Formats: sequence, C-alpha cells, structure tokens
Amino acid sequence: MQTKELSVDHLLGIEHITKDDIQLIFEVADSFKRIINRPIKKVPSLRDITIANLFFENSTRTKLSFELAEKRLSADVVNFSASNSSVKKGETLIDTVNNILSMKVDMVVMRHPSPGAHEFLSRHIDAKIINAGDGTHEHPTQALLDAYSMREKLGDLRGKNIVIVGDVLHSRVALSNIFCLQKLGANVKVCGPLTLIPKYLHELGVETIKNIEEALNWCDVANVLRIQLERQDIKFFPSIREYSQQFGINKERLEKLGEEIVIMHPGPINRGVEITSDVADSKQAIILDQVENGVAVRMAIIYLLASKIHK
Ligand code: CP
Repeated sequence: MQTKELSVDHLLGIEHITKDDIQLIFEVADSFKRIINRPIKKVPSLRDITIANLFFENSTRTKLSFELAEKRLSADVVNFSASNSSVKKGETLIDTVNNILSMKVDMVVMRHPSPGAHEFLSRHIDAKIINAGDGTHEHPTQALLDAYSMREKLGDLRGKNIVIVGDVLHSRVALSNIFCLQKLGANVKVCGPLTLIPKYLHELGVETIKNIEEALNWCDVANVLRIQLERQDIKFFPSIREYSQQFGINKERLEKLGEEIVIMHPGPINRGVEITSDVADSKQAIILDQVENGVAVRMAIIYLLASKIHK
C-alpha cells in the first residue's frame, strides 16, 4: 500500500509539482508497468471512483491511454468529446463540467484549447483535475511519460543532455518537458528555426542551438516535435521542404554522430517533415515505448490523486 502522497490535489502542470512528486509518480508507475505486463492486467484499486474524460480538442494517444489506465484501475469511466456535445449549442465550460459532476464524478481528465482552462476549473469545482493538454501551455502527463521513458533508457537523468527540436512555440509538450527535466537535474536546450522558439525560454535557463548537427552532437536524447501547421496562422519558415533540410532528423545526420543518441517523438508524427520514417521506425527511436509507458504513468497519477479523495 502506498503511504507517500503527492504535494498537489490536481495535476494542472509540471510547474506546480516537485521533484519528489515526479519520483513518487515514477515509483508507482514502475509497479503498474509490471502489472500491465501480466496476463491479468487489471487491479481493483479504484472500484469506487468515477472518472470523466473531457476532450475539447482531438487526441488519439492521450485519450486512449487515459481510458485504458482508468479501466486497468477498475474505475468507472465516461467519455465526452466537444465535437458531438452541447458545447456546439453554446454551453459554457463551467456549465458542461458542473452537469457532468452532478452525475457524481470524482475526477476530470481534460484536454482544452485554452491555456489555463484547468487552473480556472480547479477554482470552481470539487473534483480532482488532470490536465491532458491546455492549448500551447502544458501537457504534464506527456512530460512525465517522456522523462520516465528516458530514465528507463539512460538511468538517472541528472547531468544528461536533452535537446527539444522543432516547433517549440506551439508545443505544450516542450514547456512541460523543460520543467520536468530541469527538476530531475537534466540539461535542456532547444533547436529549431528562431521564429519557432519563444523568447521567454532564456528566462527558464534554456539555450537555443541554431544548428541541428551541433544540437545532435551535444545531446543524449533528441525529443523531436511535430510541426503544428494547424496552429500556424502565418508562415514561420519558407517551406516544409526547407524545414526538413535544415532541421529534419534523418539517418544521414545520425550516422555522422560519434555515439548513438535516443530519439523520441510525442506523436502524432509528420513522417518526412520533422523525422524520416527510417529513423522513426528504427531501434534508436523509443516512440512506441513512450506510448506503452504512458499507460503506467497515467495509472500512477490517477491512483495517487484518487488516494486524496475523501469520500
Ligand atoms: N502526444 C499526444 O498528446 O498525442 P495525442 O494528441 O494523439 O493525444
């Protein structure tokens, strides 16, 4: 039985949690990873808990991963997609959530396009809240599963060099990764077109490497981000072809390095844009390990927050 607990009542962002919280989540995720690799993958831990998954933005990995994590903990689960809900008739976020909570829901997992939507909600409702992505702000569970996957591959992350490559400006994964990896003692830098690197990053102690070869030579891990064309209302670089030439991760670039580095990508991948298929599908890439670890890490987060619900 777990006796330690998280310092927070909600998982709103990595910014708000401590190194001890991250290590506790990893410790519990280790146990759940062993469980989900057994023939019987389910535990009865959350039989009295009801969780609502509210997705106001599209998702494949995060939505399925949360649902599987919840079901493997034996929670009751309800799913909501804004695209086929009464949000389309003008219902507000608070009204939507309060209606769902009236049905005796204990925990809300939410993806929302507005940065800060979860923080706002946490001031107005009684249920535990997990941020499954808020606009371009944070994606804490992705950062935790990324760091967990790096730790599985490299051991202790203290002193390890991680470069985040690509569209940092539109990425919630980048900011959460930076907070998480820095808390774990890793060195984090970014690489990409300067138009896609937010100016505030230097205030977080994150340097920008302008040249991809230099970045790959420096790092132990390259976490490659998707170019988020759907969030780009103006042109941030001349063409996709030029982006791939300047910053794309391909075999030729990796073969020039002295040592093999770990390649990661949060998905979905734009094959042939930020990463070529031969790299994405190679042993060097741990992209599907990240997805597998996501279930165990999310089970750990849900379990630890649920243990703070007083019935
Ligand atoms: N990594 C990630 O958040 O993927 P989805 O958008 O498919 O959930």
